[in-house]
Amino acid sequence: MSTLSRTRRRLPRLTSPQVAVPVSAGVLCAGAVATAVTGYDQIAVALLALLGGVIVAGLLLVYRRLAKVQKAGVAAQRDLRTTVEEMQRRLIAAVERERLTAGDRHLELAEAVARVRQLTERKAGSAQVLSLPREFEATVQLFQGFTPRAPMPSSGDFALNPTGLLELLHLIRTRKPRLVLELGSGTSSVWIAYVLEKSGGKLVSLDHEPGYANRTRQALTAHGLTKVATVRDAPLAPVNIEGRDYPWYDPEALADLHDIDFVLIDGPPAAVGADARYPALHMIEKRLADRATVVFDDAGRPDEQAALAAWTERYDGLTREGELLGRHAVLAFARPPAMAATRG
Ligand SMILES: C[S@@+](CC[C@H](N)C(=O)[O-])C[C@H]1O[C@@H](n2cnc3c(N)ncnc32)[C@H](O)[C@@H]1O
Repeated sequence: MSTLSRTRRRLPRLTSPQVAVPVSAGVLCAGAVATAVTGYDQIAVALLALLGGVIVAGLLLVYRRLAKVQKAGVAAQRDLRTTVEEMQRRLIAAVERERLTAGDRHLELAEAVARVRQLTERKAGSAQVLSLPREFEATVQLFQGFTPRAPMPSSGDFALNPTGLLELLHLIRTRKPRLVLELGSGTSSVWIAYVLEKSGGKLVSLDHEPGYANRTRQALTAHGLTKVATVRDAPLAPVNIEGRDYPWYDPEALADLHDIDFVLIDGPPAAVGADARYPALHMIEKRLADRATVVFDDAGRPDEQAALAAWTERYDGLTREGELLGRHAVLAFARPPAMAATRG
């Protein structure tokens, strides 16, 4: 085994030129020294020249090696960037998968909500179906012995149900009010006017919607009831009660009314704002006769329940009567004697 091969074995990472250059330089150096010492100056110079060549070759080798190392560094950097980009791609894919899963869950939830809503509506629908016989019976009673002069406008939905109308008209027929105030005109105005035509009273109905007010006026005209009933336009305006503003009928529309002995509170509709009907008692109390009947429609709704509780607590003379039919509350108003005495 040659010296070169042995050196290579000991330095397994060095290439042949990397081993050969220092070995050759060593040999040439030793040769140059030996020849110079023994007086062979020319050979020594030649050996030194060779040594110079070997050193240049060594430097070239080092330069090539450094260039390779730099190239390897650039390649490593590129690999690192590729790895980072790959990881980013995977991360984005994982986030996207999660997003899609969340989207699926949202869709499932929305479908479940829709199913529950459908079921609830079906239940509500079935409640309406269950009430059909009652409403049918009420309709038959409403038209018994009564022939309208034109087709009657429809009941139900925004208008009072036949059951509600039946009790309302019974109260008007039996109590014979002289002045009925209706908050929210419509089908009920026509029915009330027919009863008052017989009993001799008058109806004033307020409506905040000019379109619906006109519709009621047209119905009253078609039925020949304009001498008995008037619809007044009363746009909603904020009224302040104990520091809170409520949208309610313009009080000007009531300004000339006194001794109202029957009130139907069926407006403003809930859509105009919370507690929309709460101001009613506050706004009409001084215009009521000493004794009056107040019919409050939609009394089962939370806002109306709250209004009822507040009114009965605030007004001593206001008591709830037992209702027979419909979704309204019937209230009896009797002005306390002390207040009646001081009222203009
Ligand atoms: C509950 S409604 C009054 C209904 C009336 N008392 C009756 O029984 O026929 C209250 C107000 O809602 C408005 N309104 C009437 N019909 C409506 C409808 N179909 N859609 C939206 N608003 C309506 C009118 O301005 C009306 O004064």
